[in-house]
Amino acid sequence: MSIGTKAMNDLNTRLQGSYELQARNLTYRLPRGAALVSGLNLNVRRGETVVLLGRSGAGKTTTLKLINRLLEPSEGEILVSGRTTASWDPIQLRRGIGYVIQDAGLFPHWTVERNVALVPRLESWPEERMRARVMVMLELGGLAPGEFAKRRPSELSGGQKQRVGVARALAADPPILLMDEPFGALDPVTRTELQREFRALAARLQKTIAFVTHDVREALSLGTRIALLDQGRLLGTYSPREFLESSEPEVRAFAASLESGNGLEEAP
Ligand SMILES: Nc1ncnc2c1ncn2[C@@H]1O[C@H](COP(=O)(O)OP(=O)(O)O)[C@@H](O)[C@H]1O
Ligand SMILES: [Mg+2]
Repeated sequence: MSIGTKAMNDLNTRLQGSYELQARNLTYRLPRGAALVSGLNLNVRRGETVVLLGRSGAGKTTTLKLINRLLEPSEGEILVSGRTTASWDPIQLRRGIGYVIQDAGLFPHWTVERNVALVPRLESWPEERMRARVMVMLELGGLAPGEFAKRRPSELSGGQKQRVGVARALAADPPILLMDEPFGALDPVTRTELQREFRALAARLQKTIAFVTHDVREALSLGTRIALLDQGRLLGTYSPREFLESSEPEVRAFAASLESGNGLEEAP
């Protein structure tokens, strides 16, 4: 053996250290045996936005839930900052992973301010620091605090709710952000606006982002890389340019939906 076990382990640790998020042979099976995610391998560097693109039912949401341990892998593992998620306390893990879903998932009886302060409050931040942080996050999300901090979710448009959802996910400054079709239910104009702002925000904050969509335009516009999922399997990962040039049939099917001007399917 030319390299000792310890040296090998050190090398592995260093290599992993350059990835914020990794999936290794990640597999999730239902109790009856059907695999929703099969043998998925993916490495995501800090500051990258990987888009998980796939048809409805491809296993995108399941993959995100495996990352923040809302589901546990049947086989394989997820590493966050080089450490397997199985060894994390799930609550601590989730506080380091912002999660944004399609309907924003805001608490309806809480003000915008209270919603955004959710994780800082759980972390027992001092009141003043928390309030200051909420104001910064609202500004960052394009919402004037004076106008929006005291509103309830029912007093917001869909686009504004998603802005609050993003502000809340980022409030405790987690290194990782998971986004599950966050702009999917918005009208096309608002959607494009939020995509553009989000792209700028992602570049500025250097978060490690896994972004789920079935919309190929969105994938091309936001992804530094596109991971194409089909029936629980990863068909490949592509830069936007590689994606457009690939001859993989499922890639072509998505690319064809660009030409027709439609997504592959209706939003759920
Ligand atoms: N708890 C469950 N029981 C049975 N089937 C499920 C369950 N959760 C998800 N599925 C099915 O698994 C597949 C993958 O689901 P999902 O990850 O939500 O796909 P996507 O987010 O890509 O649309 C779908 O066919 C879905 O219907
Ligand atoms: Mg889904």
